Amino acid sequence: MTRPTGRIPRLPLFPKDSGINAAGHLTIGGCDAHDLAKEFGTPLYVYDEQMLRHQCREFVERFASRYPDSIICYAAKAFLNKAMAKVVMEQGLGLDVVSLGEFAIARSVEFPVERIYFHGNNKLPEELATTIEADIGRVVVDNRQELRLVDSLARDRNKCQDILLRLTPNVDPHTHTFTTTGVLDSKFGFPIGTGQAEEALEEALALRGVSLLGLHFHLGSPIPDTEPYESALAVVLQFAREMKGKYDFDMFELSVGGGFPVAYTVQDEYPHPGVYADAIISTLSNLLLKNSLMPPRLTVEPGRAISARAGVALYTVGTLKEIPGVRRFVCVDGGMSDNIRPPLYGATYEALVANRAAEQDIHTVTVAGKLCESGDILMRDIQLPRVVPGDVLAVPACGAYCIPMSSNYNATPRPAIVFVNRGNARIVRHRETLDDLYRLDIA
Ligand SMILES: Cc1ncc(COP(=O)(O)O)c(C=O)c1O
Repeated sequence: MTRPTGRIPRLPLFPKDSGINAAGHLTIGGCDAHDLAKEFGTPLYVYDEQMLRHQCREFVERFASRYPDSIICYAAKAFLNKAMAKVVMEQGLGLDVVSLGEFAIARSVEFPVERIYFHGNNKLPEELATTIEADIGRVVVDNRQELRLVDSLARDRNKCQDILLRLTPNVDPHTHTFTTTGVLDSKFGFPIGTGQAEEALEEALALRGVSLLGLHFHLGSPIPDTEPYESALAVVLQFAREMKGKYDFDMFELSVGGGFPVAYTVQDEYPHPGVYADAIISTLSNLLLKNSLMPPRLTVEPGRAISARAGVALYTVGTLKEIPGVRRFVCVDGGMSDNIRPPLYGATYEALVANRAAEQDIHTVTVAGKLCESGDILMRDIQLPRVVPGDVLAVPACGAYCIPMSSNYNATPRPAIVFVNRGNARIVRHRETLDDLYRLDIA
């Protein structure tokens, strides 16, 4: 039995269909969050599998309904393990990987290799050799050195590798500098403005070991409105037209990257993915006409927008500390070792007390982690009801860029991960043990 939850404004930050049961506990994917914390321990990362699948479908439908020749490639860096790779595969998406590690996880569940795209600014020779050998779908080439390496590795194997060129259109998406990638001063891609993109394209067309299928850009993340995509499309399509005129280059594929935002707090209000789909597709269609170009296959690479809202972090409250007139700290049993985003990007979050989810907020608290850094603050000045040691805090929108960026700082074992699905919970990654912390050490 789930109570009406309209008066809990933070609930919509949690996976769809989250609620509050008769015991006053938060439910995620039909499971009682407090019971999950007791059964699997904390910190615990809980993913609602239906929500993950829904987000995959949402992107596929929003883009394909308006532009049938489109492919959604989930950006694995946002969150990947075997269970997630299976969800993405079963929903029919492609996958962006940036390392041999992500490639290996995908292949461990037999993710179709032709649907895998390989990104990165310094792909290692062994990473390229292995992925080319395995017939990876695309290498998204970042620089000249890599272009030549891909060519020679493919020719050595009597192959011709399909590639895209990653371009920097010099469009600022106005997001955090650490996650801004499409500007001139970026370690990623070939700048268009300096002429380096053209030089690379001319060379790529002449190489026998690569087949240049198209162009790629990724501006940064998260991008709060559609305008940067529209500006970047104008720059890139003009470039494509010029390259058609000069070198008879056909752009069979165009990737617009990822960067679609999600709400982390009740203040965050962003357009729905459908608004981005509409803006990207209508801008692209107009620019194709204007530049007399044939419609390419459209590739879209959402990461955060697929996995963030599906994931909830559960922590147990320990120390409570009040500095009168200054601050009230609520300390939890995880922190920057499982979620580095607040200290790294100044990211903001909110929380509910999972075992008293409908209670009124009564005070302003700062939620601190247990790591030995003053900067290990998960949430500053948030509103919570009365909190006592042993309570379980549930932090929404933790499904992207938390676990993948986690560390063993302070010799902290990484959390377990559970997938919940219509009332059932299954562990998809075990909690690291103390043994895991020194298993590779030699005394
Ligand atoms: C090339 C590329 N594509 C897609 C993404 C995914 O971005 P987001 O998770 O914001 O959608 C990234 C993230 O850094 C990226 O580098």
